Amino acid sequence: MWFGVVSLFPEMFELARGYGVLGRAMTAGSVIIEVFNPRTYTSDRHQSVDDRPYGGGPGMVMLYEPLVQAIEAARTAAPSEAEVVYLSPQGQTFTQKDAREVSNRESMILICGRYEGIDQRVIERVVDRQLSIGDYVLSGGELAALVVIDAAARLLPGTVGNQASIIEESHLDGLLDYPQYTRPEIAGGLSVPAVLMSGDHNAIKAWRRDKAVEQTYRLRPEMLTGRKLTEEERLALARADLT
Ligand code: ADE
Repeated sequence: MWFGVVSLFPEMFELARGYGVLGRAMTAGSVIIEVFNPRTYTSDRHQSVDDRPYGGGPGMVMLYEPLVQAIEAARTAAPSEAEVVYLSPQGQTFTQKDAREVSNRESMILICGRYEGIDQRVIERVVDRQLSIGDYVLSGGELAALVVIDAAARLLPGTVGNQASIIEESHLDGLLDYPQYTRPEIAGGLSVPAVLMSGDHNAIKAWRRDKAVEQTYRLRPEMLTGRKLTEEERLALARADLT
C-alpha cells in the first residue's frame, strides 16, 4: 500500500524502516511511504511554512499555499485516486475497523499538522476526512500518521509473519485479547492454565473466547454496550459469574 505523507519532518518516517513488522513491510515494498515536505513548496527567502493567526492568539498556523502544493504533489505521485486525510484531534476516532478499511485501499494521503494547526481553507478545499487517534493533543500529526500506517500495515497480506494470527484475531473483533502464556510453566509462583497444555484444541479455543469476553467485560465494559451479545458471549459471562 502507498502512503503519501505531508510532513515537515520526513526523518520521523524513515525511523519506522528500522523496526519490526512495519519496518519489514517497508523494506519488502508492501508499504511505501513517500513524504512531501511543504517546505519544498515555499517561495520566500525564509522558506516559511507558517504565520501568525488572524485575530491574534498564541502560536502559529500552517500556510495554505505550501501545504496545498505538497498535497497536489502527493496526488500526482499516488498510484491511484487517494483519499486525503488530515490527522487532527477534531477527527473521528480511529478504530480497528478503520484500520481494516485503510488496509484494503491502494493508496492514501496523510496530512500532518504542526503548530496550532493548519489554515481552515485547506480543510475546506482539499481534505476529505479528519481522523484522530484519541482524545488528547499531540504536538504534531506525525505520530498519529504512523499509528494509522502501522495498524493498517500489519493487516496487509504477507506482512505479519503469522497471517493466521490476524484471521484468528478477526473472529474476536470488538473484544480484548485473551491472556497469553509462554515458558516456563511456573513464573512468579503462577502456573499456566491447565487447559492450554491439554492439547485439546476445541477446549483451548473455547477458553480463549471466554477469556476475551470476560476481560472485555471487566476492563472495558463500554466496548460491549451498544452491541448485542452473541449467545456464546452471554454464556461466557454467565460462566464467569459476571451476569
Ligand atoms: N494531531 C494532534 N493531536 C492529534 C490526535 N489526537 N490525533 C490525530 N492527530 C493529532
